[in-house]
Amino acid sequence: MTPSDVKATLSFSDGSPSMDLPIFKGSVGPDVIDIRKLYGQTGKFTYDPGFLSTASCNSKITYIDGDKGELLYRGYPIEQLATKCDYLETCYLLLKGELPNADQRVEFTKRVTNHTMVNEQMQFFLRGFRRDAHPMAIMTGLVGGMSAFYHDSTDINNPEHREICAIRLIAKMPTLVAMAYKYSVGQPYIYPKNDLSYAGNFMRMMFATPCEDYVPNDVLVRAMDRIFILHADHEQNASTSTVRLCGSSGTNPFAAIAAGVACLWGPAHGGANEAALNMLEDVQRMGGVEKIGEFIKQVKDKNSNVKLMGFGHRVYKNYDPRAKLMRETCHEVLSAMGMNNDPILKLAMALEKIALEDDYFVSRKLYPNVDFYSGIVQRAIGIPVSLFTAIFALARTVGWIAQLNEMISDPEYKIGRPRQLFNGSPTRDVKPVGER
Ligand code: SDX
Repeated sequence: MTPSDVKATLSFSDGSPSMDLPIFKGSVGPDVIDIRKLYGQTGKFTYDPGFLSTASCNSKITYIDGDKGELLYRGYPIEQLATKCDYLETCYLLLKGELPNADQRVEFTKRVTNHTMVNEQMQFFLRGFRRDAHPMAIMTGLVGGMSAFYHDSTDINNPEHREICAIRLIAKMPTLVAMAYKYSVGQPYIYPKNDLSYAGNFMRMMFATPCEDYVPNDVLVRAMDRIFILHADHEQNASTSTVRLCGSSGTNPFAAIAAGVACLWGPAHGGANEAALNMLEDVQRMGGVEKIGEFIKQVKDKNSNVKLMGFGHRVYKNYDPRAKLMRETCHEVLSAMGMNNDPILKLAMALEKIALEDDYFVSRKLYPNVDFYSGIVQRAIGIPVSLFTAIFALARTVGWIAQLNEMISDPEYKIGRPRQLFNGSPTRDVKPVGER
């Protein structure tokens, strides 16, 4: 952090002593006003529910410029990573800060590949769930349950533990997500195969059966890998902030990542891709493109509580760069699958056109976000809607780990403990029950 020559001066209209607050500059993006001494010197807190104006940490991992619609992982634009790299190279970059060279790439891929199996005992967790359990309910349990197995990677303050834990989580998430899927369709689990790519291995564990193998189609594998890259990290979003706050207590990394999985499940966050596709299918059932006007009217009616799922973003007040890439992938996959005339795609594009032209959405800067097209791509690949968010969690695991490790390695970090504005009852005495 670079101290700025400019200071912020806080003064009070009641004559209370004013206070100078230091300002720090980042390498790019907004400066921050350092309020760490505020409470000590003024006895006052800042108030920022939802943290719209709050920088919770100092990070080098991911930068977003919401107005420009820019996303950088360790300085590299997402557009270049999504077209020039694969997901494991992106994982290496997020974890270590640099892209791997040829040897490092081979070594890292081998390390991850050799950790893709899970302890055989883990399959017995699934038996406790109903077959129709939501995959995110299962994933929250399975990821947290990993802390019951890998005791040589649970000490978050031990760098070796953190390293092997990162490899295990990245390697095992696809296996666990595929197990959650197989459990829901009553099919046997498929073991990973070490001669397949990360995304190809996942798709085979999803779609192969003991009776018939599954040879991944290159276009679909590339699309799956790109979905992983686009969802890998995203600054201090809700689930990443959850992982940081949870990890700040010193709990083991599996528990902290499980907290991230639980947070991501929400429809305002990672659950939006499932909600976006359900929305498209509902409108399709209502009558499709012909009925869009009626649906848009509902969205504009505040009392309807209907949102245009897959649109809007806390940070992007421009087109989400990931949505652009996902839209391209959508067309590639649907033409590879001979689904160019897919009614859901046509409906999505009609909705997008309206949202980009209708003043209600334009004035609120509601652009398509990553979740709008990712559901259509996954549906075309054959992924069930209920599994979309679990796949988002799979991809985001590396971002959560990188952010958690960055926090733990920061000498300034301490347990997160926000305060509050209290509006409840001041002290009062308990009356005997007969007098209440
Ligand atoms: C992800 O944070 C991240 O980085 C998240 C993420 C990541 O990679 O980690 O990018 C992944 O979560 C993407 C977002 C997915 N969520 C959705 O698609 C769900 C639908 N979107 C909304 O719920 C909403 O847009 C949020 C939650 C994403 C952002 O909401 P904000 O920034 O808090 O904005 P807001 O709720 O204050 O809305 C501003 C206005 C309001 O209208 P007014 O009160 O001003 O009249 O826009 C309206 C809102 O009602 N609005 C929408 C809308 N989103 C906001 N109206 C209709 N449809 C929508 N989707």
